[in-house]
Amino acid sequence: MSAAEAGVLDLRDEARAVELELDTYPDDLRGPAIGTWCGRMLNEYGSAGVFEALAAQLEETGFGEELARECLGFASEERRHGVLCGAVVEALGGSARAQTRAQAPFPAHPDAPPRAAVLRNVIHVCCMSETVAVSLIGAERLEMPEGPLRELLTGIYADEIGHARFGWRLLDAVGPSLTEAERNAVEAYLPVAFAHLEHHELLHLPLRQPPPDGDQLGLCAGSDARELFYDTLSSVIRPGLARFFKPDRVGEAHQVDEAHRVV
Ligand SMILES: [Fe+2]
Ligand SMILES: [Fe+2]
Repeated sequence: MSAAEAGVLDLRDEARAVELELDTYPDDLRGPAIGTWCGRMLNEYGSAGVFEALAAQLEETGFGEELARECLGFASEERRHGVLCGAVVEALGGSARAQTRAQAPFPAHPDAPPRAAVLRNVIHVCCMSETVAVSLIGAERLEMPEGPLRELLTGIYADEIGHARFGWRLLDAVGPSLTEAERNAVEAYLPVAFAHLEHHELLHLPLRQPPPDGDQLGLCAGSDARELFYDTLSSVIRPGLARFFKPDRVGEAHQVDEAHRVV
């Protein structure tokens, strides 16, 4: 049976095979930590499908087999991240088995020229979501004491850096040669991508205070994480995109999210 049949993701066998043992932690962290790492398990494993779809789109639009293969490698890494998060759940005494959430279909963007359609997805997935993941996981890792959990997170962090860089590299390679029609098509999508990113991140970063010492199991304050999210938008993602796209297209969403800033 596959790991994700019938709306249930069951990674118990793979997760137990990791044989993760955690350092001692306060018992009251167990419940919140199981919930958090189970959510991460679903998110990480679900990201594999996104990279598989991106690989197919890259190949179909003539970006070449090598880039498509790289994306398929990212899909395997995301599956592995799911297993590693499941290993944390199991090490905490929980079960690495959970109901999967409905996922939005991967957008083909038939209204855009083919290269712009790919770039829309690369920007959304790699330059936005994966770049935010690098910030959030990097900060969480810094706050975590040395030990097996930090080591596990370091491995995930290194992979996420690769996923984000893939997008920025591709944008650097393709950005300067975009036709006006391609550039317009990407720019038209940027506010949609920013809005989607913000909605998704805020949903996963609830404004709750973690229990004291939550850092040691990766339970961070939602308000700090949201602040870091907005800092990443304004100091990394927007300037990176403004090198190729009109600042007013990159900046429009800035005013929207500044107005909704909750920190
Ligand atoms: Fe990941
Ligand atoms: Fe990733």
